[in-house]
Amino acid sequence: MPSRYIPGNSAAVSVGVSKRRAVERHKATLPRQAKRVVSWWRSKPPGRRFPDKAGDVVCADAVALLKALRNNIADIVFLDPPFNLGKTYGSRGPRQDRRPEDAYLAFMTEVIEQSARVLRSGGSLYLYHIPRWAVRLASTLEKELRFCHWIAVSMKNGYPRRKGLYPAHYALLHYTKGAPAVLRRPLVPPPACPHCDEFIRDYGGYRRHVEDGISLSDIWDDLSPVRHLKYKLRGANELPLAIPKRAVEISGRRNGLLVDPFAGTGSAIVLARLEGMKAIAGDREIANCRIMLRRLDAIRQRKRKKRPVAP
Ligand SMILES: C[S@@+](CC[C@H](N)C(=O)[O-])C[C@H]1O[C@@H](n2cnc3c(N)ncnc32)[C@H](O)[C@@H]1O
Repeated sequence: MPSRYIPGNSAAVSVGVSKRRAVERHKATLPRQAKRVVSWWRSKPPGRRFPDKAGDVVCADAVALLKALRNNIADIVFLDPPFNLGKTYGSRGPRQDRRPEDAYLAFMTEVIEQSARVLRSGGSLYLYHIPRWAVRLASTLEKELRFCHWIAVSMKNGYPRRKGLYPAHYALLHYTKGAPAVLRRPLVPPPACPHCDEFIRDYGGYRRHVEDGISLSDIWDDLSPVRHLKYKLRGANELPLAIPKRAVEISGRRNGLLVDPFAGTGSAIVLARLEGMKAIAGDREIANCRIMLRRLDAIRQRKRKKRPVAP
């Protein structure tokens, strides 16, 4: 049965328990999975592989990486693919990220089919995309998996637009392979005024019921959809740790496996590591793989010195 869950990060400090107790509670609630000894690979990993104690970083194409993995191994597949909007990623120019729509659809269909194959029964797939593509890719997801949530991760800027309404959210689609094996409902602090710290909403006399936190909803407007500029490690988009953190809080297990074939600078793998999950992360740019390896190394050092990791 899904359990209540309080995250152990700074965002949860105001939920009325000390940070230490929140962390302890967090560890106690994260279900464990038996450690596995069998290899995750069914064939030789493609490209260049950098093995690590808690998983692998692989410099390879996403489809090739997924194809080399065994069936039914991942607790979470986290997909933050290129959006086909003509972005520059590392050594590849903008044309590489502006393919004909049917070619991009065929590519993403293969990624989703392979991701569904490597997911274990009850495992969760998260796909981060713009709504226009999320709608189209949902039909492929529906064939393989079961719909769980469409999470709107809100954008905060609101620049004037020439055409249409300002697109104010990214879609984070959550699908599971059959009934979800893990589905926790994190508690988050009720929205409060940054100046006076008072609650922004009126809870109609039931304030004491929300002081320990309110249930996380499918609209995430308390975090940024992209990593803050001051923490970024490259020019192209990166995710803040808070987004994969929530995916792990909802669907993760200690010692379970997270697979991220478009890992970029590795926010999802960093988070998996911090939460005690194993991870396989891939990116076709060697520069990104090097950043990931540096981040993983920094976690080891910071853990030793008990220093926080950049969000
Ligand atoms: C939107 S970014 C992911 C950002 C990442 N979540 C982070 O926090 O840094 C997409 C990434 O996919 C990589 N990529 C693009 N096409 C790829 C492919 N066919 N195979 C593997 N990686 C690919 C790009 O190099 C880029 O780093």
